Amino acid sequence: MDTMRPVIIAANWKMNTTPADAGELARTIAGRTREPDVLRVICPPSVCLAAVRDAVTGEGIGVGAQNLHHELAGAYTGEVSAPMLAGLVTWVILGHSERRRDAGETDALIGRKLGRAVEAGFRPILCVGELLDDRESGRATDVVRIQLAGALDGHDPATLRAAGLVIAYEPVWAIGTGRTASGADAGAMADAIRAALRDAGWGSAADDVPVLYGGSATSANIAEFLAEPGIDGALVGGASLKPDEMAGMVGRAAITAAARRAAGA
Ligand code: 13P
Repeated sequence: MDTMRPVIIAANWKMNTTPADAGELARTIAGRTREPDVLRVICPPSVCLAAVRDAVTGEGIGVGAQNLHHELAGAYTGEVSAPMLAGLVTWVILGHSERRRDAGETDALIGRKLGRAVEAGFRPILCVGELLDDRESGRATDVVRIQLAGALDGHDPATLRAAGLVIAYEPVWAIGTGRTASGADAGAMADAIRAALRDAGWGSAADDVPVLYGGSATSANIAEFLAEPGIDGALVGGASLKPDEMAGMVGRAAITAAARRAAGA
């Protein structure tokens, strides 16, 4: 049932902020976004995690990593593993398109990372999304279905559901471009994602999986996405570094959360 799903605004700070300024930014955002019905998550760079965790203690904000390694330890220079993140995060973003592009992450590798995240007790946000060429040639849904199937292969649906799996639909051509998908297209993709989960053996549990939109989301356009019953919030990049923008987006998300609560009551 739609009303059971939380409304989530997740900030992906990407490679922005330093340990010197991240805590202050997180504190400012926390103070400007106090909406108890909205699940807020901040995902700073790994070197800023401790500062952000300390800054938001007691604020009810989740802290997330932007990635983790598929092995627990070993000769992997520069990498960060799940055990290193214990105590720092409760969430993790996996399979972001920038990592698929820059680090060559495949669906199979992302699936292994998903296993590590679940073992560690982190709530995963699995990112999927098509390239512009895929969208223009009518392949967007197929591409997303393949990404999902590849990452979820071998994972028990009940385990992932218990871990609170979230899917972020981020069309690559909308990320950092100022161009967004239409609300209707994002809503249709959310439906396709849940249909793919159902086909993969999730059954009605597919309806409990939150689906976020990501790609140039701002306070000015978020209403279009939140108006879609299948969309449960946003994974936000650039605008998530601006407290005014976060306040606007979380404020709008609170309206959706209240409406859902009223509809479910
Ligand atoms: P932008 O909001 O900057 O387009 O980034 C979206 C994104 O990639 C979030 O993970």
